[in-house]
Amino acid sequence: MDDNILDPELTDNHDVEVDEEFHHLNNPVLGIKPIEKKYLGTVTEVVQDKNKFFFSDNDARVEVTVVSDEIIRVRLAPHGVFLDEFSYAVPELKVTASVFSLHEDENEYRVSTNTVNCHINKQDFLIHFSDSQEHVTSSDAVPMHWEENTQFGGYYVFGTKVCHQDEAFYGLGDKASNLNLRGRRFRNWNTDAYSFAWNQDPLYRTIPFYISLNEGIAHGIFVDNTFRSTFDFAAEDFTKTSFWADGGELQYYYIHGPHMMDVVKRYHSLTGTHPMPPLWALGYHQCRWSYYPESKVRSVTRGFRDNKIPCDGIYLDIDYMDGYRCFTWNRKYFPDPKKMIKELAADGFKTVIIIDPGIRVDDNYAVFREGKEKKYFCRRCDDYFMEGHVWPGRCQFPDFTNPEVRRWWGDLFDELVEAGVAGVWNDMNEPAVFGAGTFPDDVRHQYDGYRGSHRKAHNVYGMQMVRATYEGLRKQMKNKRPFTITRAGYSGVQRYASVWTGDNVASWEHLHLGHIQLQRLSMSGIPFCGTDIGGFSGEPDGELFTRWIQLGTFSPFMRAHSAGDTKEREPWSFGEPYTAINRKFIELRYRLLPYLYSTFWEHHRYGFPILRPVVLQEQDVLNNQARQDEFTYGDKILICPVLEPGQTQRIVYLPKGKWYNFWDKKLIEGGNEITVPTPLETIPMFIKAGSVIPEYPVQQYVGEKEITEVKINIYYSDYEVNSFFFEDYGETFAYEQDIYSEKKFIVNGDAASLTIEQSMEGLYTPRYENYAFNIVGLPFKPAKVIIDGKMLTDFDQSGDASFKFIFTKNFKKAEILK
Ligand code: GLC
Repeated sequence: MDDNILDPELTDNHDVEVDEEFHHLNNPVLGIKPIEKKYLGTVTEVVQDKNKFFFSDNDARVEVTVVSDEIIRVRLAPHGVFLDEFSYAVPELKVTASVFSLHEDENEYRVSTNTVNCHINKQDFLIHFSDSQEHVTSSDAVPMHWEENTQFGGYYVFGTKVCHQDEAFYGLGDKASNLNLRGRRFRNWNTDAYSFAWNQDPLYRTIPFYISLNEGIAHGIFVDNTFRSTFDFAAEDFTKTSFWADGGELQYYYIHGPHMMDVVKRYHSLTGTHPMPPLWALGYHQCRWSYYPESKVRSVTRGFRDNKIPCDGIYLDIDYMDGYRCFTWNRKYFPDPKKMIKELAADGFKTVIIIDPGIRVDDNYAVFREGKEKKYFCRRCDDYFMEGHVWPGRCQFPDFTNPEVRRWWGDLFDELVEAGVAGVWNDMNEPAVFGAGTFPDDVRHQYDGYRGSHRKAHNVYGMQMVRATYEGLRKQMKNKRPFTITRAGYSGVQRYASVWTGDNVASWEHLHLGHIQLQRLSMSGIPFCGTDIGGFSGEPDGELFTRWIQLGTFSPFMRAHSAGDTKEREPWSFGEPYTAINRKFIELRYRLLPYLYSTFWEHHRYGFPILRPVVLQEQDVLNNQARQDEFTYGDKILICPVLEPGQTQRIVYLPKGKWYNFWDKKLIEGGNEITVPTPLETIPMFIKAGSVIPEYPVQQYVGEKEITEVKINIYYSDYEVNSFFFEDYGETFAYEQDIYSEKKFIVNGDAASLTIEQSMEGLYTPRYENYAFNIVGLPFKPAKVIIDGKMLTDFDQSGDASFKFIFTKNFKKAEILK
């Protein structure tokens, strides 16, 4: 092996990062011998077992698994013995590649699918990936390596890739940094990060998946390892990208592009997508720590109806409980929860309650007693219970990595479901412990039979908690979709819950940061995400709150939340003109609900993210690598939020193609930066030409009105554009049995005509009969409308910008002719 490889600069850098426990054990002053890094040697053998190829250097083995044409997994076993296959992120590894092969030549082995080659260099075990044109997309800078540690019987495992000069990096889920991660180093260790700051790290979630973009070609690396991990994107050495974990197995998926969007979709093919949420959960949610007693809850909900501001979700934070004991009610504040929830529901409010993991140590408390008797709480290595202080005081914590505990926990929701609770908010599940931060490393976890310490289970604890919550609610709500939200998570958490970005601050900086965090979460496999609108701690003024509502209108999850020591924070709390503007935007949220819901379907079914940073749309434009201030909502609506006080205009980049300014319907050629006025009443918002945007009437809550007609906004285009429109019952799992309606529109026009075609899939028929067509941007005066061969005479061209007519929702082809 090359000397440079044996003693890379990187080795020193790694040592800086090892945790204190480990550092101490290896302190040369104490006479313990320093740990040596071991590198893969020369390949001596290869063995194939179906889609798996095992390469060995006489001691260590590397497994290369062909997962699909575009995904290859690599695993390292330092002494030849692989760990059992088990992953919370990838519950089932679906192998879809049917054609693959192994070639050998003088220098290398090559495992190939139709799309990707994985090259294993015989001499030094360097691995690289190339596409079918032999273009190298990813290569090892040094062979995979590890440090053995007899003290805790595991390895630190390392992978190091070559980093190119203009390579950009995205993903990692929950980082408070610029969208492009290049030049920084990040740790993954779920952390309660109250009032976090720019570049503070780590935060609440661990998503060890990144996307690389180099010379317009993307690939992804998903390091499925739950231990504390580190990613270094050319921070210490600008020629290298490294990742390492403080235990477990080095296991990563190489996910081929070439488009970033392909990588995101393929990541979802491994880790799953978000189930369809109940439609109401896409409405506006109002939260505070805490609304109590009942009279306060009622005055807030009445405030929404009186002010005619739509709202679907009302939250009860920890004060609804008796001494913060989960699954209890404070009867002084809430004497008859069932009655209250029922009456709120009659007024269109869904009640969401918080549930934390800490269970108060109290033998008079049934949940504690049962958990104790059945040994469901986490224990230390010496078998004593793990105890820590959180809101209820002295607590023990269920081991959610035990399937039996998850079932028990899920069943605990029966009374809450019976009382009418529609959603559950899981918090403090990093897990957070006052003072200590989190559990000690030696806490034991059942880990679905693959037992381990907290070092292995920490990052999945929150995900398994919300999984238990979701599965329990799903069972008890019968065929109704539960709504769940979690603070902590690991890759795959999207199968069970939405997330919010945690305890942010009421500042312009945090508005900006939250906006980037949501884009990052979206491209990291977490589609249903939002920030605490207005900022959790501190006081926003009316302008900041309104700008945040405007961003929130286009956040997949829209909830205002604030800490208990702040002033009132409802959409009408700041007076005029803010109330009217907040109302207008929340109404816009409700008008666009069918569009958002359709976008959610595109996520659920096909793995598209809901928010899409510009670079995800146009990765070939180099400047887009640094564009993080705008995004598209779905692929049809471009949003550029206002992120500074007093801003009267801002520069917006419109990707190539043609766009309509949503507010004045003017058509603008994309591929350029433009300056857009930003009075408080609007934010820059553009609709892609050719889009079909379905629109519902404004409702005060989902289901308030029967939808008797859907407005179909069609934006003229002189090139072909496809759109989706998804509908179903909005609250059941019938869509899993194909009871849904997925409509596809194709819009195309020329100087004298516009054609709209519709095709349908699925077994659901909405109750309304007609679409109200609203055609925007026709470049000619229409003389005729022909729908499915029939001539329509009743149309309205009164407005300047649009052209309207009504026709049955079942049309197949409409032509508007000059
Ligand atoms: C945590 C949560 C916050 C919640 C508070 C009280 O700080 O992040 O959203 O309001 O706990 O439950």
